[in-house]
Amino acid sequence: MSTLTIFSSVPARAAEATPVAPSRPIPAVLGADLEVPVKGGRLVGYANLDYAASAPCLEPVSAAVTAALPAYSSVHRGAGYASQLTTARYEQARHTVRAFVGARPDDAVIFTRNTTDATNLLARCLPAGTTTVVFDTEHHASLLPWPKSVRLAPPAFPGEAVRAADEALAGIDGPKLLVVTAASNVTGELWPIAALAHVAHRHGARILVDAAQLVPHRRLNLTALDLDYVAFSGHKLYAPFGAGALVGRRDWLAEGEPYLKGGGAVRSVGDDTEWHDDPEPRHEAGTPNVLGAIALAAACDALTATGWTALVREEERLIARLRSGLASIEGVRELSLWGDDDPRVGIVSFTVDGYSAREVAEVLSSEYGIGVRDGKFCAHPFVRHLLGEPERRSSAGESGANGGRSGRDHKHAGGCEDGTASAVRASIGIGSTQEHVDRLVEAVRDLVNR
Ligand SMILES: Cc1ncc(COP(=O)(O)O)c(C=O)c1O
Repeated sequence: MSTLTIFSSVPARAAEATPVAPSRPIPAVLGADLEVPVKGGRLVGYANLDYAASAPCLEPVSAAVTAALPAYSSVHRGAGYASQLTTARYEQARHTVRAFVGARPDDAVIFTRNTTDATNLLARCLPAGTTTVVFDTEHHASLLPWPKSVRLAPPAFPGEAVRAADEALAGIDGPKLLVVTAASNVTGELWPIAALAHVAHRHGARILVDAAQLVPHRRLNLTALDLDYVAFSGHKLYAPFGAGALVGRRDWLAEGEPYLKGGGAVRSVGDDTEWHDDPEPRHEAGTPNVLGAIALAAACDALTATGWTALVREEERLIARLRSGLASIEGVRELSLWGDDDPRVGIVSFTVDGYSAREVAEVLSSEYGIGVRDGKFCAHPFVRHLLGEPERRSSAGESGANGGRSGRDHKHAGGCEDGTASAVRASIGIGSTQEHVDRLVEAVRDLVNR
């Protein structure tokens, strides 16, 4: 698949809008030589197949942060040279992020902690009475923050998503927002965001795209796709320094309640408080995460310099190998909303007959040195739907649709699991190798044959 085919409904001008950057070699990630203990006390090279949860740090990102540290100082307030330099770096990071997502020149770029922070920020800035339309397939970060929402069932095919959104939006009066993920964190499948933006605008609605799982894998052009807002996280984009971004139209953000109240968000404080109406200072009160922003921008630069063609080609080779390897094992079922052939990023979720997801993940880690995620991936309604378990089950225990042997409850403090049947997720990105993929497939095969 080429970088362009993922947005089959994107007009031709969308493809032309972003200049082609000169390619550089794919950068390395830190920790590529990490060794981890397995049963018996041996050390093996770690096969990190958990990029969708959090990706490792790119070397150019680490280098940019290291380079910024000696002159690190306060931003926006200090007269000293180091303050001015650090402020310039912070504001340059904003420009880089804007260019990376192809935003319009007047779009706001607000640094947040992550995608969850970005969706919650927008939720607090919605005009009074806004109705949000959201699919049950969303990650909780995009499913839950909305004060008033209409939830749509998982669509049977991409065109059905467009039809369902069209129908729902047509029935809503007043301000409306359609929220949709660009690439599913469960199946990796790509959503028809250009067509959904078109439908939203036809009904006078706006669209927020949750791009947390898209931007590490594909180029996104907000202007060409005519999106109103995008949200994403640095830690999934090879920049694990605690920053994310919300990018999009200024007006709602300029009028919404300041996200944090404190220094930086105000012009003056006396008997009356005069808040900034520029969205960036208005919503970034306090000392911002300067190093996080610098890291995020460095990741954007590194991916752009490498070029999407090389990145996508390597990812597609590995993900095809992983999927066909898993498909060749009896009792392994890949989770998919729209079938095998729909385009997707490097994420595969699956179940293994006779084993709970937790058992599979534990064996992969303790015996093979492979890191995957198990659970419902903070997308409970969607995973329940994919597992054929539509009703919410209140009891804990792992013996569900995939017939787990242990029945072990694996709720983690601060985790995202409800303790019922779940799936295993393998996800790849820069630094993933064929050996990692083959090791996973053979490990699952060994497990099934025990
Ligand atoms: C599609 C999607 N949206 C939102 C999030 C939330 O991201 P964060 O935890 O960085 O806020 C995730 C994280 O897994 C995700 O995959």
